[in-house]
Amino acid sequence: MTAGPSPFFERHRDRVAHAAALGPVLDVASGRGRHAVPLARDGVPVVALDRRSEFLVELRRAAGPAAVATVRCDLEADASPPVAPSRWGAVLVFRYLHRPLCPALSELLCPGGLLLYETFLVDQAELEGGPRNPAFLLESGELPCLFPSLEIAAYHEGLHGGAATAQLLAQKPR
Ligand SMILES: C[S@@+](CC[C@H](N)C(=O)[O-])C[C@H]1O[C@@H](n2cnc3c(N)ncnc32)[C@H](O)[C@@H]1O
Repeated sequence: MTAGPSPFFERHRDRVAHAAALGPVLDVASGRGRHAVPLARDGVPVVALDRRSEFLVELRRAAGPAAVATVRCDLEADASPPVAPSRWGAVLVFRYLHRPLCPALSELLCPGGLLLYETFLVDQAELEGGPRNPAFLLESGELPCLFPSLEIAAYHEGLHGGAATAQLLAQKPR
């Protein structure tokens, strides 16, 4: 279910690469880098955060000479990720949800920066795979409300590649 990049990411990949002119891209809870690695191969500066050091090792190996900076951290230990605020051209979050982190994710973006967020809806609990714990599942209509300071550019809920997800593209006002 998670082999290649998300089609939602692919749809907005050029916009993300363009936003990197404003600042580097931050892949939050990057896992093995299914989005960070292709961006780095495109020459986009990317930093990947995850708590699993073995995933970050795999990610760096997959990136090879393209080079992705990685930071091992527990995103649920503090109110903000351990990176500078207001400097990121784009923030990516795929298949990860920790609601208390959302205000800090908005603060990471520089003016004009993009948030690309896709994760599971409560409907996923009826389907195969993915989380069952409501703490990791979005209610319908919830995701845009978690980012009240951002301008919503696109939002969609539904079955995407067999998974029930919400997809949000939002921008920090300039
Ligand atoms: C389902 S995977 C998604 C990975 C990647 N974003 C993707 O879409 O392929 C969830 C990721 O969140 C990471 N994660 C979960 N809890 C975390 C935490 N408290 N701090 C940092 N990373 C965490 C896991 O290690 C895992 O790599």
